[in-house]
Amino acid sequence: MEQPAGVIVQVEGLSKTYPGGVEAVRGVDFEVRTGEVFGLIGPNGAGKSTTVGMLTTTVAPTAGRARLAGFDVVAEPLGARRASAVVNQGPAVDRALSGRKNLEVHARLWGVAGRAARIAEVVDAFGLSAVVDRPVGTYSGGQRRRLEIARALLSRPQVLFLDEPTVGLDPRVRHELLDLLARLRCGDHMTVLLTTHYLEEAEQLCDRVAIMYQGRLAALGSPAQLRGALGPRVIELRVDQDPAQALAALRGAGVAGHDAFQVGRVLIIPFHGGEPGEAAATIGRLGLAAEVSTRPPNIDDVYLQLTGERIAA
Ligand SMILES: Nc1ncnc2c1ncn2[C@@H]1O[C@H](COP(=O)(O)OP(=O)(O)O)[C@@H](O)[C@H]1O
Ligand SMILES: [Mg+2]
Repeated sequence: MEQPAGVIVQVEGLSKTYPGGVEAVRGVDFEVRTGEVFGLIGPNGAGKSTTVGMLTTTVAPTAGRARLAGFDVVAEPLGARRASAVVNQGPAVDRALSGRKNLEVHARLWGVAGRAARIAEVVDAFGLSAVVDRPVGTYSGGQRRRLEIARALLSRPQVLFLDEPTVGLDPRVRHELLDLLARLRCGDHMTVLLTTHYLEEAEQLCDRVAIMYQGRLAALGSPAQLRGALGPRVIELRVDQDPAQALAALRGAGVAGHDAFQVGRVLIIPFHGGEPGEAAATIGRLGLAAEVSTRPPNIDDVYLQLTGERIAA
């Protein structure tokens, strides 16, 4: 597998079937470019953490290949691990120790050069100065998450993996963390691969996102590209009668194309051209809609169209 220039993560046909037969990942292909923030989005059980596990050498693939900074994750796990760092979903820091002690232990373990200076640097970058000498057990959720990310960065990884970095944080803290992550990428040429089931978060933060569903990638592109596939606007209508019949009627009348879809009692119709007013008039004539509105498409629509399910937040 050649590593093309500018590509830092290369994944081909990567698959994982767990003992017992769960096909968690079913042959995914993607590349992450150097310096990119790449999002893997999808609902619980989609296979995101398993993919991250394979890329960070803690889960053995059952098929396919992956390279990180040129190192094959199976054949050269040490090289792959050296090039990356990961913040997983589970607890990673020792609650009884101070933040600083946690950082020191990790820095020693990873043989970080210029340990004290590097610790001072990440403490500052993550706004942890005021709490770093307190036991981690006294931290807020947001402070702990910042410490975990700071710790991962001690070794100056080329690729940082963040598995659901904002899950369980309240909206304000989530926002602060997103800001911090956005600023982070402006610094080094670090590449970030993050997973999330918050679609708007991926849209805000990521250069490109892959939508993962039932172990496969259902779509991949920049948020604008993914949204653009639905046309400049969508018509959203809530129907009182059977939504499948209503959709069929709208298709028959030429208002809805094959890419229109249904979510419960709501129909979403990508609008690729023509007069929205005319479409609205037709909808009115058919006596279908309780409520009609038109708006630009969002990532949520893309996700719903691909999976037919609303992502559980
Ligand atoms: N260690 C494991 N053994 C068996 N099945 C697992 C294991 N880890 C995850 N799974 C299953 O694999 C599927 C994908 O899980 P996961 O990768 O954690 O998805 P996500 O991170 O997108 O929620 C799920 O059905 C999950 O139950
Ligand atoms: Mg997960």
